[in-house]
Amino acid sequence: MAATMTKAIEIVPTGGALGADIRGLDLSADIDDATFRAVYKAWNDHLVLRFRGQSLDDDRLVEFSRRFGDLDMAPIGAKDSPFSRQRPEIAVISNIVVEGKAIGGLGNSELVWHQDMSYNDLPPKASLLYGVETPPVGGETFFYNLYSAFETLPERLKARIQGLSCKHDATRNSSGQLRQGFEERYSNQDRPGAVHPLAVRHPESGRTSLYLGRRPNAWVVGLSDADSAALLDELWAHVESGPFVWAQEWRQGDLVIWDNRCTLHRRNTLDPSLRRLMHRTQVRDGARPVASA
Ligand code: OGA
Ligand code: MN
Repeated sequence: MAATMTKAIEIVPTGGALGADIRGLDLSADIDDATFRAVYKAWNDHLVLRFRGQSLDDDRLVEFSRRFGDLDMAPIGAKDSPFSRQRPEIAVISNIVVEGKAIGGLGNSELVWHQDMSYNDLPPKASLLYGVETPPVGGETFFYNLYSAFETLPERLKARIQGLSCKHDATRNSSGQLRQGFEERYSNQDRPGAVHPLAVRHPESGRTSLYLGRRPNAWVVGLSDADSAALLDELWAHVESGPFVWAQEWRQGDLVIWDNRCTLHRRNTLDPSLRRLMHRTQVRDGARPVASA
């Protein structure tokens, strides 16, 4: 027998438009390179991976996340920064309030469809979310396949967005809260945010994906406010009416990784009386999103 063996992992697609479970892998143990390559390939193929029944402390979560690339530091919160100074890579997402103070970000509200931090020039390539405490109902995370969204666009819309870019609003988070240091109102021209092509080429798969970020306060650069709103409404109506969704119903010990370059996600509302505690990391991307040819 060879000294190092590749663990036979099982890849079980969700049956939906994206997502697969990886079975047979304990993420708290060392993972050899060949096994990790199989995981990485499954991630490229399925866009979202779920590993159930894990038992990860923050060090192990960071260690596994780092296999996908260098990590970003946790983003700054909307009000106070409820993040750990010992492990600045870990963001806490939670609705739990202790002595009047939220222990994590994003509260109980529903989150709109979004790509993480696409208001930056270099949005993360991946995010990993680990369920430390999960409610029996509510707080599901929905994922959306943006390759499929692009591929099913009417030809007229594909042609229309060719060469167009969108400004992604930096001033509000995915629950609509104003981030620190920003004004309530901006014109489309003055609004802080990053500009990315509406159709991008995925650097690993070579496939074209829609790249939408989020709807609120988005602007198609160069168009009048009205023309931009009309085009974005059409693109988002296409997404909303499409079937390319998969719902992650959380269990404690689930680790989920999504490809932030070709998927959207959003969260369902949460019952404030039910506790939800998630630890999260984010994998840095070395390059800006690139327009599809
Ligand atoms: C995130 C996010 C959704 C959730 O962590 O980026 O959008 O279900 N979380 O908590
Ligand atoms: Mn998010």
